[in-house]
Amino acid sequence: MTESRTPILSPDAETIAAAAETLRAGGLVAFPTETVYGLGADATNETAVAAVIAAKGRPAINPLIVHLADADAARHEAHFDDRAERLAACFWPGPLPLVRRRRADSALAAAISAGLETVALRVPSHATALELLRAVGRPIAAPSANRSGRISPTTAAHVSHELGDAAAMILDGGPCAIGLESTVVGFHRGRPVLLRPGGIAWEQLAAVVGDWAVAGETPSPSSPGQLASHYAPDKTLRLNALETGQGEIFLGFGPCGPGGTGGHNLSPDGDLIEAAANLFAMLRRLDAAPGQAIAVAPIPEDGLGRAINDRLRRAAARP
Ligand code: TXA
Ligand code: MG
Repeated sequence: MTESRTPILSPDAETIAAAAETLRAGGLVAFPTETVYGLGADATNETAVAAVIAAKGRPAINPLIVHLADADAARHEAHFDDRAERLAACFWPGPLPLVRRRRADSALAAAISAGLETVALRVPSHATALELLRAVGRPIAAPSANRSGRISPTTAAHVSHELGDAAAMILDGGPCAIGLESTVVGFHRGRPVLLRPGGIAWEQLAAVVGDWAVAGETPSPSSPGQLASHYAPDKTLRLNALETGQGEIFLGFGPCGPGGTGGHNLSPDGDLIEAAANLFAMLRRLDAAPGQAIAVAPIPEDGLGRAINDRLRRAAARP
């Protein structure tokens, strides 16, 4: 993987205006969100959406998340009921796509929904993402700006490595604050379902709406992107490791720190928010370091730990 020649630009007013113009003309722009970097296209332009899917090498069965400037724009594209309204009121702008039934008159490209009757909508909280959305005046479809099946980018340099020259420009917002993808929530007969654990802990969502449906109750696959093997580095991963074996490098967490060389720890203080923000960048670094495999310390399965463990399990699974 080599660095692309795509310009990496600081998102001042002039650059945002140029990025908006590129998107309106059907081009692709990579931009930061609070979770990970996205590869954006005008969500109402069928050809631009097809270009994003092709650039990622993404299977056509995997639908895209649509980013909007505010909840009103989201209500134009899909039907909202009381529970969806409550979640949106509490967590937008923020890392929470809500999967809702599309309106018959939605202007969104068909390819976004990959044949489903629903669409995943979110209002991001990152200032640059919001400025770009307002400048474009249209919804932006943006999957994570990585090649399909790879680790999501949390810096502009990662995007440059991942997607070569697919984007016309990369807006540089520095490292993403959350560092894990958003929490995708669907609905089954009106009850919310966790489709992808992510940047908002499920416990926070459950404090606002109760009565969640569980996976087995929903027709499968409820979220086509949730394949067992995903987010994969090149090296093999061994989870819940307490020490390193032959040829392994250690990725620690809390007091279960690196035994010996390297010094990689997701959060020496055992803070899951810090661990989430470090996860993808550290996996990338260890993937490029000498050694055959990565041994990862146990991560508690609560709060953001649920999403961290989800990504680690998928990274450990081999196709
Ligand atoms: O944090 C994020 O959400 C980032 C930033 C850029 O916003 N985007 C992102 O997009 O992670 P992507 O395309 O890499 O992941 C989208 C996820 C997939 O798991 C997909 O299956 C699910 O959302 N999804 C999208 N539309 C859906 C739908 N209509 N029904 C069920 N799942 C859907
Ligand atoms: Mg992705």
